Amino acid sequence: MRVRIDYTNMLSSAVGVHGIPDEALASFAAPAREAVLSLRKKHPVTRWRDLPRDMRAELPRIKAAAEYVRGMAESFVVLGIGGSALGPIAVQQALNHPRWNELPREKRGGPKLYVEDNVDPERMAALFDVIDPETTVFNVITKSGSTSETMAQLLTVMRMLIDLYGEDRLHERLIATTDSEKGNLIGIAKKYGLTTFYVPEGVGGRFSELCPVGLLPAAVCGIDIDEMLNGAAYMDSLCDGEDPKENPALMYALLEVEAMRRGANVGVLMPYADSLKYFADWYAQLWAESLGKKAGENRFGQTPVKALGVTDQHSQVQLYTDGPFDKTVTVLGVEEYRTEFTIPHAVDENPNVAFLSGHTFNELISAERRATEHAVTASGHMNKTVLLPRVNANTVGQLIMLFELATAYAGELIGINAYDQPGVEEGKNMTYALLGKKGYEAKLAEMSGSLERKTV
Ligand code: PA5
Repeated sequence: MRVRIDYTNMLSSAVGVHGIPDEALASFAAPAREAVLSLRKKHPVTRWRDLPRDMRAELPRIKAAAEYVRGMAESFVVLGIGGSALGPIAVQQALNHPRWNELPREKRGGPKLYVEDNVDPERMAALFDVIDPETTVFNVITKSGSTSETMAQLLTVMRMLIDLYGEDRLHERLIATTDSEKGNLIGIAKKYGLTTFYVPEGVGGRFSELCPVGLLPAAVCGIDIDEMLNGAAYMDSLCDGEDPKENPALMYALLEVEAMRRGANVGVLMPYADSLKYFADWYAQLWAESLGKKAGENRFGQTPVKALGVTDQHSQVQLYTDGPFDKTVTVLGVEEYRTEFTIPHAVDENPNVAFLSGHTFNELISAERRATEHAVTASGHMNKTVLLPRVNANTVGQLIMLFELATAYAGELIGINAYDQPGVEEGKNMTYALLGKKGYEAKLAEMSGSLERKTV
């Protein structure tokens, strides 16, 4: 059940002059070794790597909370954004029924899941049209404990629950996941006696899926979190050595960083499975926020683009084949889908359509994936395929760790800090200033001095 990367089509021998010369692979040895050694030294900033082992001790508490929610709730609502939302969404879509919320309760076994990351007022209001507070449990997730979007949602939910049930019963319907010391949420959680889970030190937002941020929502929805951790631990064990030919995350990073040096400023991730569609969203944050950095005068990063096979074959693949050589395409493929669906016979008199009959949708989507890989390769564009034997809790755990480590190795190869996000923090500070938070007056003055707007 090992996730593998086929990187043949990143190389010139497959795609020609716009690929990475095959001889360059030999020159990877020294930077590969340095990247592995410097990443090892980063600990404890990289404690996210220990989660598959460290979380074992926390599993009984997570499972107990999940059982409580499953026993009393019809809806489970996550309040969180960025790393506090994208992982839970990706894992739920990957491992549960694609129409989970629409299934009857007996077929779900767990509550409906809503992940409320955006603060569009229309969306916030709409949530209350579909949930019943009596049978809803909320999980507010924020590592920093201060993100405005999440805090605004928390205030909304707290007001509603206190008005309905009183402060003393808030803990029945609100669970907190946050830093054990920093931020505002921990104080609120203590004051109201909320069940609280912690984001460990050294686990940044976008690296937090394998801690209670992701494990609790997954367990509430019946996902095998032990197996997710097993998969992640297995991938971590494969990705520690200095030889990139034996270390998939390191090879991924070396190829992408080399491609960036050769002008590939765009990195497309294209899953050929609806179940992996939101992995592309999760990956986009991980890759963009970790690597989009400046060091002195130099700026780094690669713009992640999310695509879905086969849907985007009818939208973006034209650009990937005939457009500029400014990108790499990473296909996420699945060898064995969990369902087999046969295309029936209906118009056998028309051979131009009837050729499909008797084949399966499985064959069709796999053929289309291979066709896209071939078309992109034939047009001279670098591409690779990350292949999952099957989508299950173990391979999803592997995939999470693979991409986290690839991002971390890429950070080491580029020579930037992959674990901060000053641009994101600046946006958070501007929001505080605009909404009148104390201590942000200078920031507000800075913004008020902006240029007069020119509109047309
Ligand atoms: O990766 C990160 O650290 C960020 O993108 C955060 O996930 C995001 O800003 C939300 O932060 P928090 O969980 O502190 O509310």
